[in-house]
Amino acid sequence: MRKTLIAGNWKMNTDRATAVALAKAVAEGAAEVEGVDLLVCPPAIYLSAVGEALAGSPVALGAQNMSPEDNGAFTGETSATMLGDVGAEYVILGHSERRTLFGETDLDVCKKTHKALAAGLAPIVCVGELLEEREAGKTAEVIKSQFEASLADISETQITSIVIAYEPVWAIGTGKVASPEQAEEVHADLRRLLTERYTAEIAESIRLLYGGSMKPGNAAELLAKPNVDGGLIGGAALKAEDFLGIAKAK
Ligand code: G3P
Repeated sequence: MRKTLIAGNWKMNTDRATAVALAKAVAEGAAEVEGVDLLVCPPAIYLSAVGEALAGSPVALGAQNMSPEDNGAFTGETSATMLGDVGAEYVILGHSERRTLFGETDLDVCKKTHKALAAGLAPIVCVGELLEEREAGKTAEVIKSQFEASLADISETQITSIVIAYEPVWAIGTGKVASPEQAEEVHADLRRLLTERYTAEIAESIRLLYGGSMKPGNAAELLAKPNVDGGLIGGAALKAEDFLGIAKAK
């Protein structure tokens, strides 16, 4: 059975003090959350400080992005090994903000996914359609193409370390949440794609997260859907009470 994962993507928010305070509050509240894995992904520069604040708690640490390169003359970049070195276990890859604002392609996401796996990190690979793609009836096609290209050449063994996040771009930071039915439809498609490429057993073991304006008030019905195995939370992850409220809604 898949264990629910509630992951917080803090994006480019917090400062050192608020990041540490938020991490401590999540770590303290984690004791009241049962049967759910918790993960926080602070800005890269605060990974170490947040990792220290989480020490001894069950809350995992993740990064929001990484370089597809190992090391060398790549000014400003952070490698997978460096992330692991400061305690990160997960890394979000191909978030729509990376794709739309920084021009990341499926090929970039794919390279990063392979590097993350090689460094022992669990990638959270994001896919999601734009509003115009949904309105044109292209959601399934877009998701399939992102799935295939972002996860090209991922073996049966590798896929079991990966989490996939469905984040409809029109729902990110907009307050417009996908309906539980809309989320379930895409998640069921992703499960089918996994079954076709791997085996039903493997497909059943992979966690599929929903992201996009998820809040304590709408989490229960989204998380009740059979193929929604957790959430990737943006705005609501910046308040421990809201983040933990989402986890408790399961
Ligand atoms: O990665 C999380 C995300 O993009 C959703 O953000 O603020 O809509 O919860 P938000």
